Amino acid sequence: MVTAVERTLIIVKPDGVQRGLISEILSRFERRGFKIAGMKMIHLNRTLAETHYAVHRGKFFYEELVDYITTSPVVVAVLEGPNAIDVVRAMLGKTRPNEAAPGTIRGDFALEGLRNLMHASDSPETSSSEITLYFKEHELFTYEREIDRWVLA
Ligand code: CMP
Repeated sequence: MVTAVERTLIIVKPDGVQRGLISEILSRFERRGFKIAGMKMIHLNRTLAETHYAVHRGKFFYEELVDYITTSPVVVAVLEGPNAIDVVRAMLGKTRPNEAAPGTIRGDFALEGLRNLMHASDSPETSSSEITLYFKEHELFTYEREIDRWVLA
């Protein structure tokens, strides 16, 4: 079956970096079959964090969210694969770690509140705008992998 190949933006948040979980988290996506189209470590400044979370401006958790995402470097990556947006979100688990099912990243490694380890785009529109926010065109790669014929049907 041929399914639409999508790209989605993920962020390993400050708690993931500080807890030494970068490789654990990224390896899950690689093992699932996703291709990494781009990846880098950055330290979000306030302006970038406020742009990223503009949709949440005014909500009760907004200030804390912006403070938290700017406390430490993060890893941003673009993952590519069939239905990437929904599949990656499912791998993260529910936003609130206490509700996330075992087997998901949050359900296996996170417990509470804003310490939910990851961000991932939630729609084709947000993935497109978030990828543009973090990556220039020359930082994203289109390449073939030998394994793709065993991953993609
Ligand atoms: P993230 O995927 O980074 O996108 C927005 C973030 O806001 C989300 O993860 C949570 O960390 C946070 N968030 C969303 N909804 C709530 C909520 N109801 N209470 C607290 N934090 C929230």
